[in-house]
Amino acid sequence: MADYKLKVTTGDMRHAGTMDRVYVILFGTEGQSERTRLDNVGFDFKTGMTGTYTVKSSLPLGKLLLVKVEKDPFLVFPEDEWYCAKIEVMTPEGEDTVFPCYRWISRGEMVELRGGKAMKVFEEEHVLMIEHRQRELNLNKSLYQWAITDDKLPHNSHYQDLSELPAELRISASKSDEILSKKKNHVSLAGSNKEWKDIKDMEKIFGSKKTAMLEYVSEHWKDDDFYGFQFLNATNPNVIKRCSELPPNFPVTEEMVKPFLISGSSLKMEMEKGNIFLCDQKIMDGIPTRVKDGNPLHVTSGFCLFYMKPDRKLIPLAIQLYQNPSDQNPIFLPSDLETDWLLAKLFFKSAHVLEYQVVHHLLNTHFLAEVFALATHRCFPVIHPLYKLLIPHFRYTLHINTVARKNLLGPHGTLSVGSFEDEGLKELMRRGLSELTYSALCLPENIAARGLESIPNFYYRDDGLKLWNFIKSFVRSIVEHYYPSDSDVCKDTELQEWVEETCTHGFLGNKLSGFPACFSTVQEVVKFITMVIFTVSAQHAAVNNGQFDYHAWTPNGTLLMRTPPPTTKGQSSMKTILEALPNVGDTAKFAALAWVLSSKYTDMVPLGTYPEELFDEVVPKQRIKEFKAELSYFTEENVARNSQLEVPYPYLNPAQIENSVSI
Ligand code: FE2
Repeated sequence: MADYKLKVTTGDMRHAGTMDRVYVILFGTEGQSERTRLDNVGFDFKTGMTGTYTVKSSLPLGKLLLVKVEKDPFLVFPEDEWYCAKIEVMTPEGEDTVFPCYRWISRGEMVELRGGKAMKVFEEEHVLMIEHRQRELNLNKSLYQWAITDDKLPHNSHYQDLSELPAELRISASKSDEILSKKKNHVSLAGSNKEWKDIKDMEKIFGSKKTAMLEYVSEHWKDDDFYGFQFLNATNPNVIKRCSELPPNFPVTEEMVKPFLISGSSLKMEMEKGNIFLCDQKIMDGIPTRVKDGNPLHVTSGFCLFYMKPDRKLIPLAIQLYQNPSDQNPIFLPSDLETDWLLAKLFFKSAHVLEYQVVHHLLNTHFLAEVFALATHRCFPVIHPLYKLLIPHFRYTLHINTVARKNLLGPHGTLSVGSFEDEGLKELMRRGLSELTYSALCLPENIAARGLESIPNFYYRDDGLKLWNFIKSFVRSIVEHYYPSDSDVCKDTELQEWVEETCTHGFLGNKLSGFPACFSTVQEVVKFITMVIFTVSAQHAAVNNGQFDYHAWTPNGTLLMRTPPPTTKGQSSMKTILEALPNVGDTAKFAALAWVLSSKYTDMVPLGTYPEELFDEVVPKQRIKEFKAELSYFTEENVARNSQLEVPYPYLNPAQIENSVSI
């Protein structure tokens, strides 16, 4: 008789435990055990607890291959799902193997767990495991299917409603409750159609939720220095670029800007010195807008020229609100009537915020994360080393995106309260995807392509590049451990299928975008996986986490401008500005959305934290510890740096970055 000792751990989230009966069968190279009920005196499988059991086999099973777990299908009580974290098995020969589970098991479900060292497809030797691997992938391909909602947008999961999602993909009960309670805020004001009488009154919607940054924004939103700063260090640091030549349709003259440049200089000279920058909103040109109260809304598609002053502050120099210059499309300047200049800045910023939410936030982080997640679920079995590396970075993403497609983007979604409705939002996203390149998602190349290597006070770049390098070095050590040579990469058919699926379903096979459809070298894999982890963690934090700080104060950037933009100068007043800004109800809705999306939730998993023990080998376990330590030093450095800044940049502090797109 051979005794196998099992340590069975139940997850520690709410409702993880079960009263149901649980059975296991152990499979080894020499045979299988009896189906054995795991049953001790008293309650088994309590939340957060580990129970010890013995499974007896008449003969030794050889090397352990699989643990089959089953929850009793015959009970008449209501379903009582069980979150099994892991099962550790000690053989009679003294060999200890962990079988990670980390999933909910429903009644009647048979779950097969693989443990031990990570295996690539060409390393499988045992016929039982070869068959098991294929069965697992076939099942996953039926569970996780691609759906096409628009033939010019990334494909998404076929799940249309949260109720269809596999239980382990859903957000925790605690996070769900926290989101619900945050949503209840502002409800009383959200239904109001009243107009604001005074901009100062907008503070009323914050109540007790004011952050120091929000207060700073509400005091400094009109300042040119702060306006320029935000194109580098607020929620959308993704579009500004160095300008060495003016676009022909943005005819700023030397005379227009001379008064704002350092004495004796010229626009041409400042361009040569690398001190002139540009934002071009061509992507917004001609996108259909929403009709509100019988009138079409307006979204501008202009240019803003910036100047890096000798005091290292970036200011806007000139704004043209549409692409084609004309008498009705003047170039606004800091010397114009104060409210004319303010209005031009507001309209430009509003388009900037819309582009940011739709392209740089939703498309480039949320929806790409879903593509990477779905390809990972479909193409890699749980024993694959890259599954173990990647899967923690997709926690909650499918849940959040299923909600976003319905509640944010749909015909009655929150974003449709802005200037675009469903079709406009989709069109903007289509344009965003058609312009997206692989290089743009790789931060070092992105920064170089925009000529921003040396612009001062660009904390997004400074922190982002450090994080990119930490992630890359971590990824490299794991990938090189499992792929000692390029030929290992070439013969891993699962890896090749994974990258092919991301290219086909994410980037629609667009060869010009530079996204790889196959891998030939280890370094290509390292770069791509670095990009994936950076995109779903750091980049998402950079565009997501500052939303309440920067956009709850509506005049600093709103998704909706109610009046047409100015076509002449000298006609405006603060009244014009109040008329252009959202009313009380819409202001409250935007602030509530920003509050929910940029809040921290108690079950957050910060970047570099891997609570699930998926790896079994020493090298990845050690590298995980080192990665975490490196990020922890960087957190200290980041906090110290921010304490010296008038306007801190905390969004890429690793302690504030989540491992995955989860809100
Ligand atoms: Fe987000």
